[in-house]
Amino acid sequence: MKQLVLIGFMGAGKSTVGKLLAQALDVTFVDSDDVIIDKAEMSVADYFAKHGEEAFRQLESDTLRELSSKPGVIATGGGIVTNQGNREMLKEIPNVVFLKTDPTVFLERIKGDEEAVRPLVQEKSSQEIVRLFKSRVAFYEACADWVVDTSQLTPEEVCEAVLVQVSRKNS
Ligand code: S3P
Repeated sequence: MKQLVLIGFMGAGKSTVGKLLAQALDVTFVDSDDVIIDKAEMSVADYFAKHGEEAFRQLESDTLRELSSKPGVIATGGGIVTNQGNREMLKEIPNVVFLKTDPTVFLERIKGDEEAVRPLVQEKSSQEIVRLFKSRVAFYEACADWVVDTSQLTPEEVCEAVLVQVSRKNS
């Protein structure tokens, strides 16, 4: 397995599960938001405030292009699928997993996450956030080789479910 890319909405557990997967597969892990933070030398929230969403999306696309040629597990930002070029890049990558999560679960996780300030949800009501998720679901599904519903699973169980799919495909 050369590459494994995790996609899904905010709060789906992409980074947590990505780290577990990288450990289990003994490969490197990278979170595209962390690469962006390093490049921009500021947080995602500050980048949005200073340069706007469009500039962030450009940086996100450039980052995906760079990462897509490197081996390992990659966790992407929840909005990666909103850009058509990104969707085309994702479709070229052989192991793309959509971590699908019920709105009640991701709303709870997003609210409880004090580490990551997410500019796109800060001023939004729960209904608006769910609407944003619904507007993206078809894109996540179209880009994914597999879908794993994470709502009722622990990160370890999600990792296990992904590993089963990966070993079936790559054996
Ligand atoms: C975003 C998701 C965030 C981050 C940015 C925008 C989105 O990443 O890239 O705040 O548009 O869904 P996570 O999915 O890791 O929270």
